Order: sequence, then structure tokens, then C-alpha cells
Amino acid sequence: MNATNVGYLVQLAFIVGAAFFVMGLHLMNSPATARTGNRLSAAGMIVAVSAEVVFVLQGHVGLWNWAIIIVGLGLGGGLGYRMARTVAMTSMPQLVSLFNAVGGGAAALLALSDFIALDGHRVLAGDAPGLDGWRTFFILADVIIGSVTFTGSLIASAKLMGMIRGQPILLPGGRILSWFAVVCGLSVSIVLILAGTGLVTYEPSVLYVLFAVALVCALVFGLLMVLPIGGADMPVVISLLNAFTGTAVSMAGFVVGNVMLIVAGALVGASGAILTRLMASAMNRSILNILVGGFGSEEGTQSALTSAGGSVREVSVDDAAIQLAYASKVIIVPGYGLAVAQAQHGVRELADLLEAKGVEVSYAIHPVAGRMPGHMNVLLAEANVPYPQLKEMDEINPEFERTDVALVVGANDVTNPAARTDRSSPIFGMPILDVDKARSVIVVKRSMGRGYAGVDNPLYVNPKTGMFFADAKRGLQELVAAVKAL
Ligand code: TAP
Repeated sequence: MNATNVGYLVQLAFIVGAAFFVMGLHLMNSPATARTGNRLSAAGMIVAVSAEVVFVLQGHVGLWNWAIIIVGLGLGGGLGYRMARTVAMTSMPQLVSLFNAVGGGAAALLALSDFIALDGHRVLAGDAPGLDGWRTFFILADVIIGSVTFTGSLIASAKLMGMIRGQPILLPGGRILSWFAVVCGLSVSIVLILAGTGLVTYEPSVLYVLFAVALVCALVFGLLMVLPIGGADMPVVISLLNAFTGTAVSMAGFVVGNVMLIVAGALVGASGAILTRLMASAMNRSILNILVGGFGSEEGTQSALTSAGGSVREVSVDDAAIQLAYASKVIIVPGYGLAVAQAQHGVRELADLLEAKGVEVSYAIHPVAGRMPGHMNVLLAEANVPYPQLKEMDEINPEFERTDVALVVGANDVTNPAARTDRSSPIFGMPILDVDKARSVIVVKRSMGRGYAGVDNPLYVNPKTGMFFADAKRGLQELVAAVKAL
């Protein structure tokens, strides 16, 4: 087969790979089809990488380059496979963050190597063969976005792994330095693009220095952007950095003229951006507000509700078990506390027991319950909770009025009625699960401590609510034993 035909086949394979990605993403819309979607996307990636290898085979690739490609594929693929197989579900955000760092860094290196191979100063001066200001723009965009993603994601994963403090780290003069890095990096980039279009001319050495300044500004900005962000805001930032990774990869596609990179990068960039927006709006906050950081206080802060005279009704495990077992409809509301306590199996066991007694059980899933997107879905899937029982907020909210018992396990902010009524509350306007509309409410948590937003929850002093103070795992085990004993 001649080179032109192979070229067409490779492009065809890229289109097939891209179609697999789009279909895979679509299937990830539902937990029931998410696994198939994941496999389809992985198949798309195999098709794309194989096509690229065939494309490379046609060229005159030296032995040394082949060695690099094979070792790179083996090392990267092997490490990625191992990490993905062994990661604990709760460590997923740090793994995604590491992958973002690798993706952003690789995209930046691709543009850098292109820059070096094309004799950098000629690229920047716009006089290398077939080059113009656009090429300079794409190289710069790739290097800058990729570098921000690289350092930002490394800091994010270090925070989540506990290698550095998870709470906001405010460096003296950090904000000013961030702004300086942004202004300086952008100004230098504009000068370089103008040089790329041939509108201004500089000595090659000056162009190299300016390029290095843009690179350093991007690396520093990545660090300074993530350091002041607190632990619980990290999922939103990781999703934002994921969008950056996709954009950098897309830019890399323009630099090296690879359609597959452009399509795959655009898909990652767009889905990361959509997810970031969804998360931010489900928390009723702007992305800027999250990036500025410092939201809420630490968990477990003693509530002011009781000190202000609110009356809390405590329930015993036996009372709670009787209420649940003799209900006809129960909605379970899982939250961050359930995830921390790893109580998903306990909740499933309790639900099975109740169903065996004829109780209708479903689970109310708030979009930002827990600390990462889909946190509750993943946890409950781990415990083999049937998908049809998981109900999204809009679907389940009208059902609370017809519910005998809403069982809240380790959830706080996502059930806080102040979000509907208290204009001064930081969570005012955040859509919540209408737990307070159920006929009765049982809350399983350890204390009157606050949640992520650091605000009191009037649900706990509602006369309908019974507080069952316990660690979620232990509390559920006790409830299971008490229901069995009935
Ligand atoms: P939170 O409001 O954070 O409340 C969790 C509650 O769990 C705490 O009040 C805590 O009370 C309790 N808890 C902790 N450990 C426990 C344990 N071992 N056993 C039982 N209870 C335990 O959780 P939520 O209702 O799921 O809301 C999530 C919050 O995170 C929202 O404010 C959301 O905006 C934010 N957020 C979410 C995301 C995503 S994407 N999901 C991303 C960033 C931020 P005690 O200390 O009294 O036990």
C-alpha cells in the first residue's frame, strides 16, 4: 500500500477513534452504561495510538527513536494500568490530578520539542518554512496552559495526598505575585506572537529569553493558583485543571498537525469545563469565588444552634429502628460522612432488611454530596446498590412529602433548609434535598458539628428530626442489629 493510502487509512482510524470517544462520553451519562462507555473510550484510544504508530512506521524513524517510543509506551501504559487498578476509590481525585499533571506536562513538552526542532528563534520570528503567527500562537498557548496545569496539578495532588497542608496556604505577597505572573506572561506572549507574524523583529537571543520568561510565569502561576485553595474545594479545581489539560492537548494537536489530539483535547477540555461549571453552580458559587478560596470553616466546629437555645431531640437506636421498620417509604440521604466512615455496605444491608419488611427504599443523590463529582454514586455502586434506587435531586425532591422517614447519613449542607430561606447564609440559593418535608427525619452523625460550608443546619432543631449521634459505620451496624431484632 502506498504512503498516501496509508495516510487516508490513518485519518479514517482517527475519525473512528473520535467517534468512540463521543459515544463513550454519552454512555457515561448513566451509571448503568458507564462501564461500557469507559471501555469504548479506551478502545478509541487504542485505535488512535495504533494508527499513530502505523503513521510513524512510514517515516524514517531511527532505532534510538523506536527505543524511546517502545519504552515510553511500556512505562506509561504499565504505570497507568497499575495505578488505575490499585487506587482506592477515595484516592481517585489525587490520581486524576496526577494524570492531569502528566497530560498538561506532556502537551507542553510536545510544543517545546516542536519549537526546538524547528529552530526556535525562526519559529518565533515567523520565518521558518511554512510558519506564521498562528503557529507561534499555538506553541505558546500549549506551553503556557500545559505548564500551568503541570505545576497546579502537582500541588493539587500533593495536597490531597497529604504531602503538603490541605488547607489554604496563603504566601505573603502571593496574590500580587500571581497577578504579576499573569500580566508578565501575557505581555511577553503578545510580543512573541507579534514577532511570529513578522510585525516586530528581535535578536534570536532576546526571543529565547522572552519565551523562557513566558514559560517560567506559567509554571509559577500554576503553583500560586492552587496553593491558596482549601482541601474541600480541590475537586472543583481538579476539574478545572482537567479542562486546562484538554485545552493544552488540543493546542498540541494544532502544533503538530494531529487531528486526533485536537478532537480528544477538545472533548476533555469541554467536558472538564462543563463539569466545573456544574459543580460550582450546584454549590451556588462562581468559579472565581472558588479560585479566590477561603470558603467555610473546618468540619466538626461545634454548632451555635444549641447554644442559641435550639432544642435537639436525640433518638435511641431502638426508636430509630422501629420508625424505619414500620415505615412504608424511606429515603436514604448519603453525604460526606458516609464516605469518610466507609459505611456504604452498612447502608445497603439496612436497606435490604427494610425492603424485606416491605418498606419502599430509595436513595437521594445531591450533585455535590461528598467531595467529588459522582462520589455517592460511586460509593453506593461499590456496595452494589441497584441503580434504579438512586434518584437525582430533581427527581426525588417531590417525593419527600410522601415519605415517612428521611434517613440522613453523614450529610449536612446538602440538606440545610437555610439555603432556601436565609439570605445571609453562604449557601443561600444552593439547591438542596427537601429532607425537612418528609414526615420524620433521622440524622446519623457524630455530633452537632457543621459540614463543609461551616454553617448551622436548622434541620437538626426541627421538631420532626431525631438525631442519632454515632459514627456512620457503627451507627448503621447498630441499626441493622436493632431492625433484625424486631
Ligand atoms: P458536609 O456538609 O460536608 O457534612 C458532612 C457531615 O458528615 C459533617 O457535618 C459531619 O458531622 C459528618 N461526618 C463526618 N464524619 C462522619 C462519620 N465518620 N460518621 C458520621 N458522620 C460524619 O457533607 P455533604 O452534606 O455531603 O455536603 C457536601 C459539601 O461539600 C457541600 O457543601 C458541597 O458544596 C461541598 N463540596 C462538594 C464537592 C463535590 S463535587 N461533591 C466538591 C467540593 C465541595 P459530624 O462531625 O457531627 O459527624
